[in-house]
Amino acid sequence: MKRSYGNLLRRAIVLSLVLFGCGESRVDYPQRQMPEGLLREAAQLSAGYTLFHDKCASCHGKLSEGRSDRAVFFDPPAPDFTNINDPKTDPAYLYWRIESGKNVEPYRSQGSVMPAWGGYLTEQQIWQLVAYLQSRGP
Ligand code: HEC
Repeated sequence: MKRSYGNLLRRAIVLSLVLFGCGESRVDYPQRQMPEGLLREAAQLSAGYTLFHDKCASCHGKLSEGRSDRAVFFDPPAPDFTNINDPKTDPAYLYWRIESGKNVEPYRSQGSVMPAWGGYLTEQQIWQLVAYLQSRGP
């Protein structure tokens, strides 16, 4: 009995070292394929633009786009997507974050205020947002 607790503890320690050691960039999310050609379709991008300004800009917009004053207090902060690079440009990552927001780890424990849009937006609308975020410049 004693021995198995010891093992369990050791495993828990190793697991937490691995989790903390790898940091946030190693989160696991479902792989998805962005519908073919979405980034090149003006109508889809403009639908994404409208959705973003309607539902996201109060937290993620630039000041000129109506970002609210309370956004300064978000910890972790909400990015404005004018400089997305690294693994976060992966459309599947962006889709997952929009769909599940703060409802998944590690974001839940970090105190994120990012809403989960999965129940409010259709799959197509989420892809339109992903496409728009990817096209967003400074
Ligand atoms: C109430 C404020 C709020 C609203 C509204 C909001 N977000 Fe967020 N969002 C955040 C915060 C804060 C973060 C950073 C913490 C995190 O990653 O969970 C975030 C993170 C994200 C991320 C991950 C960014 C990264 O670099 O990892 C994506 C993608 C995202 N939001 C997209 C959206 C989209 C698209 C909308 C609109 C449909 C939206 N958000 C609406 C607050 C908000």
